[in-house]
Amino acid sequence: MCGIIAVIQKKGQVAPFLHQALKRLEYRGYDSVGITTISEDQLFTKKDKGKIDEVHKKLNLDNLPGSIGIGHTRWATHGIPSLYNSHPHFDCYEKIAVVHNGVIDNFLELRKKLLKKGHTFGSETDTEVIPHMIEDEMKSGSSLKEAIKNVTERIEGTYAIVAMSIHEPDKIICTRNGNPLVIGKKEGTSYVSSDIPAFLPMTNSMILLLDGEIATLTTDDVRIEKLSDGSVIERDTIKISWTASQAQKGGFPHFMLKEIHEQPDAIKQTLRIRPEMFVKAANTIQEANRVYFLAMGTSGHSAMAGRYMFASSSGIVPSFELASDFTDIMYDSISEDDCIIAITQSGETTDTITSVKYAKEHGAKIIAITNVVGSSITRIADHTIITQAGPEIGVAATKTLMVQLAALAQLSIHTGQITEFRTNEFLMRMRENLEEVPDKISNIIAIEEEKARRLARIYYNKPSFLFLGRGISISTAFEGALKLKEISYNHAEGYSAGESKHGPIALVEKGYPVIFVAPKDSTHGRIIGNVMEMKSRGAEIISVIEESDSDLLELSDHAFQIPSGIRHEFSPMAYVVPLQLFSYYMARRNGYDPDKPRNLAKSVTVL
Ligand code: G6P
Repeated sequence: MCGIIAVIQKKGQVAPFLHQALKRLEYRGYDSVGITTISEDQLFTKKDKGKIDEVHKKLNLDNLPGSIGIGHTRWATHGIPSLYNSHPHFDCYEKIAVVHNGVIDNFLELRKKLLKKGHTFGSETDTEVIPHMIEDEMKSGSSLKEAIKNVTERIEGTYAIVAMSIHEPDKIICTRNGNPLVIGKKEGTSYVSSDIPAFLPMTNSMILLLDGEIATLTTDDVRIEKLSDGSVIERDTIKISWTASQAQKGGFPHFMLKEIHEQPDAIKQTLRIRPEMFVKAANTIQEANRVYFLAMGTSGHSAMAGRYMFASSSGIVPSFELASDFTDIMYDSISEDDCIIAITQSGETTDTITSVKYAKEHGAKIIAITNVVGSSITRIADHTIITQAGPEIGVAATKTLMVQLAALAQLSIHTGQITEFRTNEFLMRMRENLEEVPDKISNIIAIEEEKARRLARIYYNKPSFLFLGRGISISTAFEGALKLKEISYNHAEGYSAGESKHGPIALVEKGYPVIFVAPKDSTHGRIIGNVMEMKSRGAEIISVIEESDSDLLELSDHAFQIPSGIRHEFSPMAYVVPLQLFSYYMARRNGYDPDKPRNLAKSVTVL
């Protein structure tokens, strides 16, 4: 939530780079944008509310002097999206510029104290207390770094802070507590950002910055120190395998569509993860008394599907809890006998991190499944599985869901090998079937995309949809409904088809669209019953069915057809694809940008 980028280079204007980097970070927030640079002892700023392209059109973000600068794209928490609330924020004399991601919990109290001292504020944000506090610290003789260090002792909350000042125009200082920052380095230039794709076209060498550390970036050097005692930390540079072209649209009109098309390859890459990565985690799961999946959003839907995979292959049935509510459910009952499987594509979701930290404090073992090397979750977990989707830029998760499911499938098979709930032959057949999934998904995209576009033309202005499934397909129904509402803003509810008779059916009248996710698994007979119930009340039936399923084909007004031969444990990977495409074309038909749904952000770092 909120994208930060800062760069310091030897010569040349940084503003055009900052502008482009912010475009690559726009998925983190897009209600306002700002850039500040330093040139000839002066700060130069352009900022306003609105998406980057709109603001650029109005202000020309490239036209700022100087080879050091910071930029920010905002997802509003404190204060409405407006010019004044846009970052960067400044001290009273506009000598210090700060961008921030996170929430300063005690900002009201700090703001009151600063106002009493005579500081003047230009915004309603929590962030603005920071430059004013730095101003006071620097007035009493502190360097920029010392000033920030002292400020961190007085602010409470979560933050990633990047600051620069005309008093020390040769450096950028950054620190973090609970919100991500990664440093990028190439000869003569240093970068810091909330996400790797921001600087990926320039370098794939990155240095992690951890909570409780402060970094000083100059053109030639990155110096990291512990906030607590000032000790210097030597940290190796990591080369990341992501490429710059992965973070570009590559000829597709939107990242979301590109990422849907990349899914077969993303699964193939994830199926190449070395078995050792799963074996340790599988042992931990097998030894645990209770196993919990914790996740939010789309990652929660992988967890829901993961339960069925584990049950089928290993006999272990993990529970799934929303990370946001886990501590409230568990009180103090979690213990060292328990195991948490945290699923988070970003590795930064605050709800997930908070509940995982709580479980760890109670001694539970933590397994993380994430797509981002070095993300916060990787530093808390006992075992981490890094999925191989490459960067996902579209706010609505698509390929990261797919790789989570692929990772869970493998982890469940490895766990099955240890529990011996199934024979080796059974598990081998599962693995072989899993290997076939990517090509089947390529087929689905090739054949069903046009149908998704056509159905969007028919249904785009329907105000409400029901998505129903049974068993493992409930997770797909939930995901289909989530995708539709988050990017196309049609109301959509995902429900268990079994439960649909206990409420949602009251919504159904002539022409009401009900989408059934209905593979030919053990639930098939019962789902036909549910289709009949909806049909007899006038519902229009859109179904996602197996290609050989003539019964449901006949009962449906429209049907997406999925190749036969996919095991039920892996059916969510295939059956969700037409629903992703449907949502995408619905959003387009309704005139919305599928990559930037209103009010949402890719990585949610507030509670
Ligand atoms: C946000 C994103 C979703 C994502 C959810 C959980 O809401 O828009 O796409 O599923 O956060 O994120 P995580 O990074 O923990 O998977």
